[in-house]
Amino acid sequence: MTSEYRHTPVLLAECLEYSNLKTQQTFVDATLGGAGHSYEAAKLIGCGGTLVGIDQDEVALEAASRKLGTLSDDVRPHLELIRNNFAHLDDALLEAAIPGMDAILFDLGVSSVQIDTPARGFSFKENSPLDMRMDPGNQTLTAAEIINTYNAADLTRIIRQYSDEKWASRIADFIVRARENQPITESEQLVEIIKAAIPASARRAGGHPAKRTFQALRIEVNGELDVLRSGLEAAVRWLNPGGRLLVISYHSLEDRIVKDTFASYANRCECPVDLPVCVCGKEPILQIVTRKPIVATDEEVARNPRARSAKLRVAQKLATRFDV
Ligand SMILES: C[S@@+](CC[C@H](N)C(=O)[O-])C[C@H]1O[C@@H](n2cnc3c(N)ncnc32)[C@H](O)[C@@H]1O
Ligand SMILES: [Zn+2]
Repeated sequence: MTSEYRHTPVLLAECLEYSNLKTQQTFVDATLGGAGHSYEAAKLIGCGGTLVGIDQDEVALEAASRKLGTLSDDVRPHLELIRNNFAHLDDALLEAAIPGMDAILFDLGVSSVQIDTPARGFSFKENSPLDMRMDPGNQTLTAAEIINTYNAADLTRIIRQYSDEKWASRIADFIVRARENQPITESEQLVEIIKAAIPASARRAGGHPAKRTFQALRIEVNGELDVLRSGLEAAVRWLNPGGRLLVISYHSLEDRIVKDTFASYANRCECPVDLPVCVCGKEPILQIVTRKPIVATDEEVARNPRARSAKLRVAQKLATRFDV
């Protein structure tokens, strides 16, 4: 295996700027990948700082460990590289035994390396087994199992809900009919079924016809929306006052969760407006730093097409009554 992990970090300069990281601070990269962001963040916190890198994919962790190992001794922070799902951020950070964090980054989804490795089954462009597990060692549900066992109603629901596919119920019906003849185990089979289900006139717009269904399957296999909610909630608890939470999302469902979670922590009193005094006692915990999400420049998108759909949102933890 080559030691190179080909993934270009997205919105890198923006993340570094908005992280506000300074020497000796603690940074958590909850989606370490190939350490594209962490390598540069490490230089900001330096050898007096601590970098906690989390990824559920062991291939990514190994690549990140190699890359961070190339930082010179006078720069390299104390490193804690942890294989876990960020849904278990509490456990991971307890393992790192650090009381609070100064910046936490989530760069969601899959890396280019995961997509470009046919055996992982994420790609609709190359024939591969329908797998899509980010952590094959710990997950059992694969895309093939979903395709071959979910009923038509459940298939329709996930395809529509997780990808906004207009033809979801037709695709689900075609899948159910096709699997009566033989199990659907490879991406090429599924791509052909999707192409047959979407009328030719509709196929001309909206990119590759299988793109949306594959995205929906990936989200279902990895429970991506549920883990995002719990990961963000834990991150807010672990931030130091003044610490920053940065999230890069790549589709509207994720971005909505990030936006709503930030808003719920930034809100004050939630009492009905006709109550004369506040009874909920709710105080804001976060201040939203980016009212509108930050997106990539044209220049970055030209260099790295993956950046096209990226949205970065940033929030800052407020000091609570108990911190001051
Ligand atoms: C977009 S890549 C991150 C790339 C990284 N920022 C870089 O520049 O090299 C997303 C990474 O997060 C990991 N990941 C996605 N969801 C995760 C989760 N719930 N828990 C832990 N890791 C996750 C994936 O395995 C993948 O390596
Ligand atoms: Zn109230």
